[in-house]
Formats: sequence, structure tokens, C-alpha cells
Amino acid sequence: MPYTHLRPFAFLTCACLLASALLLESCDKNELKNASVRKPVLPASAYDYDSDVQHAKAVVQPFSHDSIEINNDLATLGRVLFYDPALSLNNRTSCASCHKQSRAFADPAQFSEGFVNGETKRNSLGIQNLFSRSDASGFFWDGRAETLEKQVLMPIRDHVEMGMRSTDELVVKLQAMDYYQPLFENAYGSDKVTESRIAEALTHFVKAIPSYRSKYDQGRDTERSNLSVQERRGFELFFRELPCGSCHLDGNFENYAHTSIGLDVEYADKGRGEWDLGLGTMAYGLFLTPTLRNIALTAPYMHDGRFQTLEEVIEFYNSGIQPHPNLDYRLRDLSGTFTDDLINPGTQGSGAPLRMNLTENDKQALVAFLKTLTDQELLSDPKYSDPFVTIEE
Ligand code: HEC
Ligand code: HEC
Repeated sequence: MPYTHLRPFAFLTCACLLASALLLESCDKNELKNASVRKPVLPASAYDYDSDVQHAKAVVQPFSHDSIEINNDLATLGRVLFYDPALSLNNRTSCASCHKQSRAFADPAQFSEGFVNGETKRNSLGIQNLFSRSDASGFFWDGRAETLEKQVLMPIRDHVEMGMRSTDELVVKLQAMDYYQPLFENAYGSDKVTESRIAEALTHFVKAIPSYRSKYDQGRDTERSNLSVQERRGFELFFRELPCGSCHLDGNFENYAHTSIGLDVEYADKGRGEWDLGLGTMAYGLFLTPTLRNIALTAPYMHDGRFQTLEEVIEFYNSGIQPHPNLDYRLRDLSGTFTDDLINPGTQGSGAPLRMNLTENDKQALVAFLKTLTDQELLSDPKYSDPFVTIEE
């Protein structure tokens, strides 16, 4: 049997079958599944991830001169790693367990289930157009990962998410698996598995996940004339009448920064304040401005998944913003007040929470506009899909 990594499971399966003869309920279905083998099936020549990213960049960051290049062989290896539950301690959880293609790589659960039923502390983030994010703003809801290469290794070692005790253990495990040898060979010219190669390949894959083919994008050259009257009203509100577009900037609908939108007066999860001791209490309640691309698919919403629908999110912005001390100035009523802190006006603390007083029609228009950001093609694009097929032994 060539799959040395499966041996413990083969044993468990036997034990399980034996147990099931005596007591059916004690048998865990997940153990039985390991009797069959999953293997990646890949195209004869690698998919062209790089050209997708260049197209996406032209739409999402048209004015950026930074060059970005995806290595297609590295991304191919990264795709296999992303979908491989062997990256978790008990072969149950892959990156894709919590980042589902059908959900723009987010998770419909409020908190994601880890490798042994534990739950993540926060709602999973979708993965799209990460090539557009520089390391300066960090990764995760609170920006605690300094680079994407560091970030992609963190869930593997996380005691809730994938549970590998060390990446050394993972390196040894993958080195013994036959389908990784040609993949590493192809990407690096040698089949040696190392931590930095795993990180680099995963990074090339996740950076290559693009979102640029939505209805909104298709109207780029025609002043959005393809949008309905209602969607265009939403667009007007979003970018001209309300502050939405000053944080969710046109392009990738994020501003690569962390702010408090006043979800609560006091946050149970302090966000950036959990680790950024330099900023002290000024970091409390600061979270990443997430992209709104494919937002119709990535419910529930906010770092703690507290809102189930876009209507609830809009109602929060309309009437529910709380007077948190770090509430961003763009979401305060600044009429009649004077802010002289030009360096950091967001922490000035003047102005009550903004009340938008939107009509029902305008609330619906905003929701209709947000729904134009869905890129259907990403959801079924084979380049980003699960390459594994199950082979019965
Ligand atoms: C058990 C669920 C789970 C697994 C498994 C998991 N993630 Fe995540 N992922 C999350 C959650 C939850 C967040 C948000 C956490 C936070 O911000 O504190 C996240 C955030 C991310 C982000 C941050 C994106 C951003 O915008 O900053 C990336 C990238 C990512 N994960 C990639 C991966 C990769 C690669 C793997 C596999 C090696 C993986 N994840 C495995 C749940 C998971
Ligand atoms: C001051 C910057 C800022 C402004 C202005 C702003 N947002 Fe946000 N938005 C954020 C941040 C930060 C979050 C995440 C907050 C959290 O989870 O704690 C967010 C979250 C969201 C989400 C949920 C995203 C997800 O993936 O869970 C939606 C939808 C949204 N905003 C839409 C809007 C709309 C519509 C407006 C205008 C009415 C708006 N935003 C105005 C910064 C802003």
C-alpha cells in the first residue's frame, strides 16, 4: 500500500468496521470514507492563472503600476494543497472546508467548524483579488498576519482550524505522499517539500483567485448603463450620497485599512486591539474593511457573522450605528462640528453616529446595487475548483 499517510486510518477503519458489527452508532462515517483514496486530477498543461490575474488587475486596479505575476505551476500545486485535507492533523479539514468556491471562498456558517468540531472565533473571510492587497494592511480581519506567506501557514498550525502541531510534521507527511512529488518537481525543479515552498505555492493560488466579471464590471466602459434604474440608484447612493464608497473604494471595494463602524458600544472581540498594543485602546473595535465583491454570496456578515442578510446590514448602517469611541469619522454626523485632527480624524471622537434616514426604496436600491457585484463565472471556474476525485480501492 503506497499511501503510508493513510495507514493509521486503515487501522481505524478496521477497528471501526469491527465496532460497527457490535454497535452501529459508534462508527464515525468520516473514518469509513478513508477506505477509498482521493487523488488530484489535473489538466495536461497547467491552467493559465496569470492571465486571469492580469485581466482582473486591469479592472480592479487600473491605475496601479505595481506588477504582479502568478507562476502557473506554483498555483497548480497551491490548488492541490488548498483542497487537500491531508494538511490537517486528522485528514478531515482542508482550506476549502471553510473557503468554499460556491460562496466566493467564504463559509455560510457563522463560525467555521475546525478539524475536531471546534469553532473559529470569527466568520470566515472570502478570498478574492488578494493580489490587490499589499502586505502593509496585513491579513485577517484584524490585520495580524504581516504577509500572505505567513498567513497561509497559520490555519495549518491553528489548534481549532487544522491542528498540525508543527509545519515540520506536515513537511514529512507530504513528502511521503506520491502525488506531491511530481507537483513539487514541476514547480521547483526538485521534489523536496519545504515549509516555504508550501507557503509560496498556497500564496500563488490564493492570490490568483480573481473577481472581475460581475454585472457591475461589465458596465465599466458604458457608464454602468447596463444597470437597471434601481441598481443605478443604489450606485448613486453608494458612491455619491452616502459614505459607503469612501471605505469600500471603487475597484475591490475595500480601503486596505482597519476601522470601527460602531457595531457595538463595546466590542467583545477587540479586533486590531487584540494584538496591536502600540495603538492601545485606539485599536479597539478596528476591523478590516472587507471587499464587497460577491457580497450576495458571503452571508452571514461582519467579523462575527451577526447579520444574516444584506437588508439587515443596510438597516444597521441606516439606523443602528453605535457611539463607539473609535467610530470612524465618516460614519459620524459632523455637521456643525469642527475636526482639527487632520492626521487621524477617525479617532477624534466628535459627532454622534450618523443616521441616514433612508426610504424603503433607497434601502432596496442599495441591496440591488450590491447584488450587481456577483461574479458568477468564478463560482464554477474549473481553475479554482476541487481537483480531487475519489478512487475506490
Ligand atoms: C476551520 C476553518 C478554516 C480553515 C480550515 C482555513 N481557514 Fe482561512 N480563514 C478562516 C477564518 C475564520 C478566517 C478569518 C479569521 C480572522 O480574520 O481572524 C480566515 C481567513 C483567511 C484569509 C484572510 C483573507 C484576508 O482577506 O485577509 C486567507 C487568505 C485564508 N483564510 C486562507 C486560508 C488557507 C490558505 C487555508 C488552508 C491552509 C485556510 N485559510 C484554512 C477559516 C479557515
Ligand atoms: C468607515 C468605513 C466604512 C464605511 C463608511 C462603510 N463601511 Fe461597510 N464595512 C466597513 C468595515 C470595517 C466592515 C467590517 C466591520 C466588522 O466586521 O467589524 C464593513 C462591513 C460591511 C459589509 C459586510 C461585509 C462582510 O463581508 O461581512 C457590508 C455589506 C458593508 N460593509 C456595506 C456598506 C455600505 C452599504 C455602506 C454605506 C451605507 C458602508 N458599508 C459604509 C467599513 C465601512
